[in-house]
Amino acid sequence: MEQDINDSSMVKPSQRKEVSNPIYVGREDDIKKLQRTRVAVHERKVVIFYHGGKFYALDCRCYHAGGPLHLGEIEDINGQPCVICPWHHYKITLNTGEGLYQAINPKEPSAVPKWKSKGAKQRTHRVTVDNGNVYVTLSDLTDSKDSDYYAEKYKTEKIAEK
Ligand code: FES
Repeated sequence: MEQDINDSSMVKPSQRKEVSNPIYVGREDDIKKLQRTRVAVHERKVVIFYHGGKFYALDCRCYHAGGPLHLGEIEDINGQPCVICPWHHYKITLNTGEGLYQAINPKEPSAVPKWKSKGAKQRTHRVTVDNGNVYVTLSDLTDSKDSDYYAEKYKTEKIAEK
């Protein structure tokens, strides 16, 4: 399969090892208290949520048009915790980065809308906790996701000091 050499989301083989290194992002207690925080992991802006006793990490900018997910509300939808993008209210699962939407079968006007998935649109990353320290490991960036475009666009965005 051919790949576009201008695709900025691509990672050269020599960089893969580096981006797969876990990066320390803060103390477990602090992030639990904050319930969300924005961090830079190998220059990529990532939002970490602490919700329902679990940590989640996603690209910070929404796959639709770059909305700031760190400002979104968290809701449980269809049994899955989701962040609601503050710009156009897209729903994104915290665990898998799937875009959810409600669908109605027009041939059944009385049917109740059902939640459906558009697939994994937002890149998620791995969070690990070791001895009270929280680390994020970026996912495999060679597998492209819709949120990569905005991750690159907002790469130089400043994150306020805590
Ligand atoms: S930018 Fe997130 S829903 Fe449009």
